[in-house]
Amino acid sequence: MGFHAFTAAVFALSLSLILRGSALAHEKFDDQFNVVWSSSNNILAYDDSKEVELSLTKAGGANFQSSDYFLYGSFSVKLKLIHGESAGTVTAFYLTSFGENHDEIDFEFLGNETGEPYTLHTNLFVNGTGGREQRIKLWFDPTTDFHTYTIIWNHFQILWLVDYIPIRFYRNLEDIYPGSYPHLRPMVVSACLFDASAWATQDGTKPVKWQYAPFVVKYKNFAFEACEVQRDGSTPCDHNYRANWWEGLYYQKLDEERRDQVMWVVSKWKIYDYCYDNKRYPRAPLEPLECNYNVPWVW
Ligand SMILES: *[C@@H]1O[C@H](CO)[C@@H](O)[C@H](O)[C@H]1NC(C)=O
Ligand SMILES: *[C@@H]1O[C@H](CO)[C@@H](O)[C@H](O)[C@H]1NC(C)=O
Repeated sequence: MGFHAFTAAVFALSLSLILRGSALAHEKFDDQFNVVWSSSNNILAYDDSKEVELSLTKAGGANFQSSDYFLYGSFSVKLKLIHGESAGTVTAFYLTSFGENHDEIDFEFLGNETGEPYTLHTNLFVNGTGGREQRIKLWFDPTTDFHTYTIIWNHFQILWLVDYIPIRFYRNLEDIYPGSYPHLRPMVVSACLFDASAWATQDGTKPVKWQYAPFVVKYKNFAFEACEVQRDGSTPCDHNYRANWWEGLYYQKLDEERRDQVMWVVSKWKIYDYCYDNKRYPRAPLEPLECNYNVPWVW
């Protein structure tokens, strides 16, 4: 008990119930998810409610989030990004808490002009402070098929994985650098699609081309196995319980194989890393301090 897992089908069914309005008035919206914002019909469940699509039109995009909060766990989704023209758009899948001192773990997919590659941007906010961006190119076209994107967040590190390959890790150095690791605040799981013409593509020089709207992103196979935290703060799951699989040895520290995978991504696919940005961090890569530890050759 307290071990939380659910599937896209449940979620999609719930959404379709809202979208069909009161046709099934006796059916309650499963309180797993809330539509945070959506213009007109910009969130749609289909294919027997197994898939959900978000669209972006001139009227706006869409955002939904889980109504449950989680403290540590594994969060996975399959995504198929906007095919063709996608400049100026951002698709996101992320964990977040709220308020001035919020924590947030992000996957953001920055669109591009037709034929140009998407960028995968990852970031982390702790206690309200972000600025820990990393960007990579993907080794496949993320617009033609579904691919799996996973965040594993445990007491030891955060892992971002693409098709189960770790592309980035961030260690828990809270003992030596207090305020550098999200360890206190439960987070919701959220997803959105929005217009980010001002910054997303080629430094904001390529805004959304509305003649190609609607821009459509598909999500399926949500799989969250995580410690749920009730709204009254109680936790049916003990997040300190080291037998939760996401806390296991395999997820505490990268083994050699996965260290090689991160090395491969860093050397072949990485296009930006805040740890090497001297314009923003004059003492990089020695500062920010965590940069000394979040490199695959320091284990
Ligand atoms: C979090 O941020 C607040 C200011 O917004 C600061 O007072 C507090 O010390 C920070 N906590 C940590 C652990 O750094
Ligand atoms: C878009 O394509 C250009 C040209 O290939 C590339 O430089 C850029 O990194 C791509 N991604 C974004 C988000 O601008």
